[in-house]
Amino acid sequence: MSTFRTIDDLPGDSRVLVRLDLNSPIEGGGPQDNRRFERHARTVRELAEAGHRVVCLAHQGRPGSDDFTSLSGHAAILADHVGRDVAFVEDTFGTRAVEAIETLSAGEVLLLENTRMCDDELPEAEPEEKAATEFVEALAPYFDAYVNDAYSAAHRKHASLVGFPLVLPAYAGRVMESEYEANTAIARKSFDGPVTMVVGGTKATDVIGVMDALEGTVDRFLLGGVAGELFLRAAGNPVGFDLDGMDLFDEQWEANREVVEEILAERGEEIHLAVDLAYEDADGERAEHTVAKIDEKGEAYLDVGTDTVEAYDPLIRESDAVFVKGALGVFEDERFSIGTVGVLEAIAETDCFSVVGGGDTSRAIELYGLDEGDFSHVSIAGGAYIRALTGESLPAVELLQASASGE
Ligand code: 3PG
Ligand code: MG
Repeated sequence: MSTFRTIDDLPGDSRVLVRLDLNSPIEGGGPQDNRRFERHARTVRELAEAGHRVVCLAHQGRPGSDDFTSLSGHAAILADHVGRDVAFVEDTFGTRAVEAIETLSAGEVLLLENTRMCDDELPEAEPEEKAATEFVEALAPYFDAYVNDAYSAAHRKHASLVGFPLVLPAYAGRVMESEYEANTAIARKSFDGPVTMVVGGTKATDVIGVMDALEGTVDRFLLGGVAGELFLRAAGNPVGFDLDGMDLFDEQWEANREVVEEILAERGEEIHLAVDLAYEDADGERAEHTVAKIDEKGEAYLDVGTDTVEAYDPLIRESDAVFVKGALGVFEDERFSIGTVGVLEAIAETDCFSVVGGGDTSRAIELYGLDEGDFSHVSIAGGAYIRALTGESLPAVELLQASASGE
């Protein structure tokens, strides 16, 4: 169970500093609306409706990256979702920020500038060190409480995540609460029937690490994506390597070969691999190869095949819990969405406990008209979800728990 305090426990009329994760894809210079805004809006709305003064902190990109931008565009999108004005100030802890904070009335919402524009934010360090930064020391005196809603950034030891909970009473926001509950379920809950994990995507190293860590917890893994091809390669099939101009397989193969071979050898009965793979033929159409008949990889495989989807379907339907990490194909292209959508549809149609993780995979849900309500939880976390699945604790979550227990 979560042992942190939540926003239900906040004293009335508080001045709250709320850490959100609005890190978003940037297109044409501005942030694209996405699930993160909608989710965090609930926390912000509840706080504002309760009459607190709500000051939000968030980050976007990293210095040097293309998506490192101001949060001015984020404020407008957040406001739309909250249904209230969200003021923005182009300053994080300087005099302009303080002025804006001081003029806030009960129920009003303010978003401060990108935390990663402050030198104190990023270098990872212990909470005590982060709590002693100018950033934290300058802002904290203007608040009665700190609310962390940024579960998806909770694996980072940044000032806005681990500094404030040492100097202010700390509470979990609604996103923090729900993400924590669902994402740690695999480690905390016991299920009567089979527990299945669907593993795909392009970051094979991450998911193979999860598979390694989940020995004894997950009954079977249904594979696709890059990890799926690497396992097929380990099983002796001529796939799972880079063709000219590709950079997905060979490096990840070298890095994970030993673990993949070990998992196959020792836990082979848990591992379900694609029996066919889809590619784009010369006419630009979807075509499929039966894996057993592939003599030489001559195509980029972009999805699992239809026989694979048929084989995976009953395995999902008879499961008590299904966790999804990574797409089975390049679902953004409808021709190669069959694997990913097939799996999601099977989950949606059954009553199993289900968690779909990773921003990318969960995008398939709205892209193909599935109903989020048919899943127990759709996570907005990437790296934090991976860590939760492997049973690693998250520093920012630990501090919320410590704050509640008076440590
Ligand atoms: C994310 O978008 O995954 C989180 O906000 C963490 O961002 P980071 O990987 O840049 O630290
Ligand atoms: Mg369901």
